[in-house]
Amino acid sequence: MELLLVKNYEELSLKAAEKVADAVKSNPRIVLGLPTGSTPLGMYKELIAMNKEGKISFKHVVTFNLDEYEGLSKEDPNSYYRFMNDNFFRHIDIEKDNTNILDGMSEDIERECREYEEKIAKCGGIDFMILGIGNNGHIGFNEPAEFFPSFTHRVKLTDSTIEANSRFFDSIENVPKYALTMGIKSIMHCKKIMLLASGKAKAEAIKGTLQGPITPKLPASVLQLHRNLTVIVDEEAGALLKTV
Ligand code: PGA
Repeated sequence: MELLLVKNYEELSLKAAEKVADAVKSNPRIVLGLPTGSTPLGMYKELIAMNKEGKISFKHVVTFNLDEYEGLSKEDPNSYYRFMNDNFFRHIDIEKDNTNILDGMSEDIERECREYEEKIAKCGGIDFMILGIGNNGHIGFNEPAEFFPSFTHRVKLTDSTIEANSRFFDSIENVPKYALTMGIKSIMHCKKIMLLASGKAKAEAIKGTLQGPITPKLPASVLQLHRNLTVIVDEEAGALLKTV
């Protein structure tokens, strides 16, 4: 594992964007796994700037997003479809057809999840997955549980995730109770993973993830077993890590 401790959110965003840019430069047809949330916003901004300056091109890049709320339309301001378009895709030279996001409005959720996995496989798997982490240690919407869920599936969101995400909604009642997410196996099959965490709300989860037991009660802890993991944390998120 490569662990990078940086000063603050700005440094984290720049470092993360540099890692993605290097990967895209070395493989212009790379398949990326992408997260939503507040954490990757700065990284997306940096990547947009690099693209506008002509330093990198996303022309042949393929993307798969990690998760999507159930029951929100593509136009809904809180859908991850909207998030990705507003914060990244429409500002860069990526081909719309090369961007993949689970359809939370699908009438057949099981089929939607199965076909998503099939499409990932058809593209040769995900080369580089970028992850945020929930305050409760979730990755994607893989919530703390008694076992590690495997492939893309429907999930009931925990109260703590609904509470954390309610900041984006008019009221907590409007936060969807279910979502679709890549599973732990889908994530662990990615060839390279980069985990990002910023702020003190993430400090406990980061400590457990990197220095605690591997347990589905802290889903991100499974990443300790991944063979090509980079973790970038700022001072606040890394505050509880023991140094040896
Ligand atoms: P955040 O969310 O980046 O908004 O903190 C991360 C997550 O819940 O996975």
